[in-house]
Amino acid sequence: MGNTSLAGRKILLGVSGSIAAYKTVFLTRLLVREGAEVRVIMTPSAAAFVSPLTFSTLSRNPTRHELMSESEWHNHVELGLWADLFVIVPATAHTLSGMAEGRCDNLLLAVYLSARCPVWVAPAMDLDMWSHPATRRNMARLVADGVRQIDVGDGELASGLSGPGRVAEPEALLEEIRHFLAPAPVFEGMEVLITAGPTREALDPVRFLTNHSSGKMGVALADEMARRGARVHLVLGPAAAAPCHPGVETIPVVSATEMMEAAATVFPRCRIAIFAAAVADYRPATTATGKIKKQGDSLSLELVKNPDIAASLGARKQKDQVLAGFALETDAGEEEARKKLKAKRLDLIVLNTLQDAGAGFGTDTNKVTFLTADNKTRRFGLKSKKEVAADIADELACLVQAAP
Ligand code: CTP
Repeated sequence: MGNTSLAGRKILLGVSGSIAAYKTVFLTRLLVREGAEVRVIMTPSAAAFVSPLTFSTLSRNPTRHELMSESEWHNHVELGLWADLFVIVPATAHTLSGMAEGRCDNLLLAVYLSARCPVWVAPAMDLDMWSHPATRRNMARLVADGVRQIDVGDGELASGLSGPGRVAEPEALLEEIRHFLAPAPVFEGMEVLITAGPTREALDPVRFLTNHSSGKMGVALADEMARRGARVHLVLGPAAAAPCHPGVETIPVVSATEMMEAAATVFPRCRIAIFAAAVADYRPATTATGKIKKQGDSLSLELVKNPDIAASLGARKQKDQVLAGFALETDAGEEEARKKLKAKRLDLIVLNTLQDAGAGFGTDTNKVTFLTADNKTRRFGLKSKKEVAADIADELACLVQAAP
């Protein structure tokens, strides 16, 4: 009897027309052996490389490739709702472009548009196709739409050329899928504090000082940690983003002082604290009780320092607590981030720079570097904020396991 870590998990495999489709045959076998329920859909050209019957036999489910058939015309909706995860492997340049454009002229593309589950693509193509600006553009758009790209391999290609463009190996894909759908229960029942969003510092009853933070990164983290079994206390400033997972308790706050108070209350019982909020460093020395009236040609405001939430809770950190923060830097990023890591007694700091296209405030993507207290540095490419949240959760899992 094999490992059944994927028992009951529903995985939809989308196969597009590449010689690499033969590897999806092996992946189907591996997933079924792991206990997953697998269904396969193909583009018409994929069926020229591997017979649908091969997939039907291995998956023990009928393989579908027709969008329009008398009995099955509504399948794309049903399949899109059924799956826990939709993996398109191999994903050709043509299929990536159809997905990026929202085209709907085959079953695979129609299911993509109907899918409510996470969607991954494992591209496979020749190296020049992979590096072509059109493919780069399509891939960037898909990542911004929330699709996860599995890294391509580098090596011998079917054309005889050598370089990047090989589809991920079935064993590596199985590992990724297992990691995603059946992660080790490191965070099960663990209490986690997350600060997120901006703060508002009132000048008078109608005006305030604030910043551009959307709260999206912190909220994505709250959902990801809850999905992995944590009990999350999300201390959230006035942001548009809101968590979806029922395992997240949201504590709404407005000012930095309120955020400090709420965070300090839950901190002692939390094993992990993540400081994702963009806290205003200063607040007006006084808040006028009535609306400040227009006066002369200039107006000076006196500001006083707000509490540094990460630093003050870092100073109270217990041995088994793991703390993570963010740093947004425009210059000398890694050096500045390391200083903050030390000063605030963090175990991990996630650095992002506003210089990277697609990274920063309000966007759905982010490009980050992890710096850890044990002097390690990991740089990542552009990813969706959901994916960055998953990478942070993975890093925290390692840190928690290493903590006493
Ligand atoms: N932070 C915090 N409370 C503050 C300021 C920052 O908890 N009053 C946290 C942020 O949530 C983040 C980390 O500290 O995790 C770094 O925030 P950042 O604004 O980059 O650093 P500052 O210490 O405010 O330094 P500066 O603004 O001068 O770069």
